[in-house]
Amino acid sequence: MREARENPSRLEVQTFFDEATFTASHVAYDAETRVGAIIDSVLDFDAASARTSTRSADSIMAFVLEKNLKIDWLLETHAHADHLSAAPYLQEKLGGRLAIGREIVVVQNVFGKIFNFGTEFARDGSQFDALFADGDNFSVGGFPATVLHVPGHTPADVAYVIGDAAFIGDTLFMPDYGTARADFPGGDARQLYHSIRRILSLPDETRVFLCHDYLGPDRRAFAWETSIVDERKQNVHLHDGVGEEEFVAMRTARDKTLKAPALIIPSVQVNMRGGRLPPPEANGRRYLKYPLDTL
Ligand SMILES: [Fe+2]
Repeated sequence: MREARENPSRLEVQTFFDEATFTASHVAYDAETRVGAIIDSVLDFDAASARTSTRSADSIMAFVLEKNLKIDWLLETHAHADHLSAAPYLQEKLGGRLAIGREIVVVQNVFGKIFNFGTEFARDGSQFDALFADGDNFSVGGFPATVLHVPGHTPADVAYVIGDAAFIGDTLFMPDYGTARADFPGGDARQLYHSIRRILSLPDETRVFLCHDYLGPDRRAFAWETSIVDERKQNVHLHDGVGEEEFVAMRTARDKTLKAPALIIPSVQVNMRGGRLPPPEANGRRYLKYPLDTL
């Protein structure tokens, strides 16, 4: 039985915000067919104790079960550098196919070298069930979905446009906060400019869902939904009228002031394996690796 507040003509989106990593995870679903996708889930990780927990993922799972949804897709917008993905955990519990942009192989090659992973670590994207190229189409229930390759933050970022909603990963943030950094290995401020301009050319009425929020100078409540019009008019880094050179200069200067994300080392080595933890050693324990004086 459909609930009164659900609207079958529009993709339903429920967001779960993790204040520890400022990450917005989304469940997008078709209220008619009860088919859904989980976008950018979080596996909780305490860096001091190196303990993982599924508290955040379990709240997503509870929602999916309560709403009686069939999960067709676990979508990653990119290999995140600030949180571990819970996609394999949720896939095991709920099913669905795990997908990311096909340029993940570039990230696997770059970071495979940085972590000095051996042949055990495949760099062909085979940890994922689907590798999307720009323009690929799929569906979430009755809603058509399209993949946009939007590199710049990382080489492999994609945005998912599902029905009238765009899940844009780390490209734009809320208008009062600006844009994603472009200084990770393989990042590129110029590419980010063109990727964002492409997102801003989506229809004005597109609902825009973000991957992160860090509050704004005058904002006290976390937010994760904005619009193409608001971004085009008000984004502090890249509103209409800001040119490529101006943006690249701003982004490059700002990135020089940013510290590495607290969880970049655990996150990247796990997320480029599709969110799977490294294989256990002979004693049955799993270990993370820390390249010293490298990042
Ligand atoms: Fe990111």
